[in-house]
Amino acid sequence: MKNSTSLLGNKNKFLVFGCGYSGSFFAKTVRQFGCNALTSSRSKHKDPYNFVFNSEKSIVPDEKIFKGVTHILSCIPPDKNGYDPVLKSLKSKLQSLSLEWVGYLSTTGVYGNTEGDWVSEIDEPKPLQKRSQKRLNCEKEWITSGLPVQIFRLPGIYGPGRSTFEAIRNKKIKVILKKNQVFSRIHVADITNAIIYLLQNKHNLKFHQIINIADDEPCSQIDVIQYCYELLGLKMPKPIFFDDAKNELSPIAKSFWMENRRVSNKLLCKNLGYKLIYNNYRAGLKNCFLNT
Ligand SMILES: NC(=O)c1ccc[n+]([C@@H]2O[C@H](COP(=O)([O-])OP(=O)(O)OC[C@H]3O[C@@H](n4cnc5c(N)ncnc54)[C@H](OP(=O)(O)O)[C@@H]3O)[C@@H](O)[C@H]2O)c1
Repeated sequence: MKNSTSLLGNKNKFLVFGCGYSGSFFAKTVRQFGCNALTSSRSKHKDPYNFVFNSEKSIVPDEKIFKGVTHILSCIPPDKNGYDPVLKSLKSKLQSLSLEWVGYLSTTGVYGNTEGDWVSEIDEPKPLQKRSQKRLNCEKEWITSGLPVQIFRLPGIYGPGRSTFEAIRNKKIKVILKKNQVFSRIHVADITNAIIYLLQNKHNLKFHQIINIADDEPCSQIDVIQYCYELLGLKMPKPIFFDDAKNELSPIAKSFWMENRRVSNKLLCKNLGYKLIYNNYRAGLKNCFLNT
């Protein structure tokens, strides 16, 4: 067995397209391994590691940004026409590089509504929402690009600075009760660590092109909100039934309640052996509570 930690280090240069919540967490972490990691945003930043990429304005990175790149991670959602922003602007550029690995952050929305049943990577995607159909289209674009791509399907992402605590503090919380409705979720640190685990063990593990990264415990939104109130030492407001609340929800918020599924992490956590840092919302929210 090869020394796994030798697979990530100062010989690796990552370009992280989309330096939002997950992308910036990933870049910060791989830098701790000694990797060079540059990140993109749509407008100029003070951050010395940042470069500008904006597919809507046809702004592409300078040639020098691509020099020595070994790994790419794209964290950018589909554009309004359902195309992948990175591939639309840079496909032939990426194909001309000697890339070892390309990662793409997708969503478990591509599975559609399973009425609470478990879904795994072998289930055929049946996207219900237009945005999930666009996402599936982007996945297909990446798969047919010929690049060494691995797709990570993610449920709701949370972590310090982006969790139910912010909604409670900003008084934007809506405590909605819909019987038998569950959501899956993932802590941002587990997205990064799972990807790093797969990269470090690349030579020991079977390659899977599509992998779900989700925690062990899909559950109702009320359980999550209730737990946050408990940690804050506050009383949760009385829940409103979904049927009474739905007309006041934004179309996007309402669309999330139209899908009910449990996302399986068996491939990642059992078959491939990744150990979650935050295996359920209680562990993850404690971390958010202590870090926000
Ligand atoms: N949030 C969730 O719960 C969730 C769940 C499942 C999957 N996902 C998907 O997982 C990925 C990462 O999620 P996230 O929440 O960490 O993302 P995020 O914080 O929303 O960041 C998205 C990034 O994409 C960049 N971007 C958007 N459109 C672009 C364009 N046309 N050209 C260039 N850059 C563009 C943004 O640039 P700026 O920095 O300039 O804004 C930003 O850096 C996304 O694809 C997201 O849709 C999210």
